[in-house]
Amino acid sequence: MDGKPKGAEFGEDEVRFLSVLRTSLALAMDRGLEENAAMLKKLIEVGQLISSSLEMDVIIEYTLQSLKEVIGAKWCVLGLRDKETGEMVLKGSPGASKELQVEAERVPAEGTILGEVLKTAQPLTVEDLEKYDSSLRLSYWSKDIRSVAVVPVQSRGKILGALIVCTPFPRYWEENEVGYLSIIASQVGLAIENAQLYESLREYYMSVVKALAAALEAKDKYTQGHSFRVARWAKAVAGEMGLSDKEQEMVYIGGLLHDIGKVGVREYILLKTSRLTPAEEKEIQSHPSVGAKILEPANLPKEVVEAVLYHHEDYGGGGYPEGIAGEKIPLLARIIRVVDSYDAMNSDRPYRKAFSQKWVIEELRRCSGKQFDPAVVEAMKKVLERDKSACIDFGGEWRPDSELGGLE
Ligand SMILES: [Fe+2]
Repeated sequence: MDGKPKGAEFGEDEVRFLSVLRTSLALAMDRGLEENAAMLKKLIEVGQLISSSLEMDVIIEYTLQSLKEVIGAKWCVLGLRDKETGEMVLKGSPGASKELQVEAERVPAEGTILGEVLKTAQPLTVEDLEKYDSSLRLSYWSKDIRSVAVVPVQSRGKILGALIVCTPFPRYWEENEVGYLSIIASQVGLAIENAQLYESLREYYMSVVKALAAALEAKDKYTQGHSFRVARWAKAVAGEMGLSDKEQEMVYIGGLLHDIGKVGVREYILLKTSRLTPAEEKEIQSHPSVGAKILEPANLPKEVVEAVLYHHEDYGGGGYPEGIAGEKIPLLARIIRVVDSYDAMNSDRPYRKAFSQKWVIEELRRCSGKQFDPAVVEAMKKVLERDKSACIDFGGEWRPDSELGGLE
């Protein structure tokens, strides 16, 4: 096999994968390639998707949909085993009714067909469930499920779950079909392992990011919790504007880190209550560029670094560091610009008390089109109007106007 060092041994998964592939190919030759072309084509497509995507939900949906088409099944399910309870947890089930999905969401595997497959790590097919030992039927068995093929999903010798393919009529499962299902199950196992590895790396990375943000805030008691609130507001506004989950996550990280460059600003300037000298102002205005430089080696997405670099640019021009305007300012930076200002005005500072909520919203409206992107201001207003209680989740910062000694 290409890429395998000479003399290197194949792992258990690779041997299983190759033997199933060999069986499938041999059968394909025997039975005529045309009949199996659809399966082989889908195998290649699923393999390509798995090697190019870490989005688990996308992989699962595409894989199960492909299975449905190729096998002509009524319902395809991926169930993953809950390590603690041994139950099977539903991860995807195209073709199933809502009721069936709810029923199958979490089911005991032991003593059923699923349990058999998980125990033996071997595929199991049942031509007609009505003639099968009823005690071994799935707990969500219904008259719509007459025939089933269950194939274990494994990775590195560990059973992770099973692929379950159901038809509403009795069906004989050909050896090549079971082989096809086994290859798909191998690929799904690999994808799950990759996704889990990626997820643990991402969690580790996020904990480092949060520690960085917390270290920054420890420097200035007046901005405690600011980065976290900005991150959450930014994500909420991005969601309101219809941005993707990935963009929402990037703006969240950008929000956490937007002021990270202030670690390079002398503390007395950050805490100064009187007017800043031009030199001090210049130093504080360097923080977006310093922040972007700090993040460069961290290999963060470019959108996150840009959100940090441009979060003090004004929509109407005249901000810093570059003085760019309008749509030239990346959207994530425009979002942080608004929510950062909102939170700053809404909080106490060394030199002033927080402004009232009413005043802050009016100020956002007044500066819309000047400092702020009007579309972002609108989205922020909607977020605020929709759920004032959300502010409590955002760090308990919500206070009624009457409690604030603002400068109205
Ligand atoms: Fe800033």
